[in-house]
Amino acid sequence: MNILIINGPNLNLLGVREKTIYGDVSFEKQFNSLSEKYPTDNLIYFQSNSEGDIVTEIQKNGFGEVDGIILNAAAYTHTSLAIADAISAITTPVIEVHISNIFKREQVRHNSFIAPVCAGSISGFGLDSYRLAIEALKGE
Ligand code: DQA
Repeated sequence: MNILIINGPNLNLLGVREKTIYGDVSFEKQFNSLSEKYPTDNLIYFQSNSEGDIVTEIQKNGFGEVDGIILNAAAYTHTSLAIADAISAITTPVIEVHISNIFKREQVRHNSFIAPVCAGSISGFGLDSYRLAIEALKGE
């Protein structure tokens, strides 16, 4: 399968940022171990701190270019109607992922604009949330 992982703002700082919440492993390291774990799948990684770039990446991969998108929209999860609209516009299945359990955190993080338009959501399993999302896509 061709699977695109999109990470939103500040996730380029994984391993450095708020380690008690997000752990001490960089996403590059996690991506390499996922690529090793799924050698017959083609994993692609895109990260951006910009809402518009994330919308564009979703559009570019929205019509069969990849088999699935795993999206951690980070803080845009809680604010972005534009990203939700982009997901609604496309046919590629999108799985929402969060490293932390957003429902255990501050009230402002409990609402996800993108959850209602995603195939499913995985939240709270650390970096393993991404592996669980791959498993979900492979099971679809
Ligand atoms: C996050 C949770 C968001 O609330 C936060 O803004 C992030 C990361 C997570 O993966 O746990 O940046 O999406």
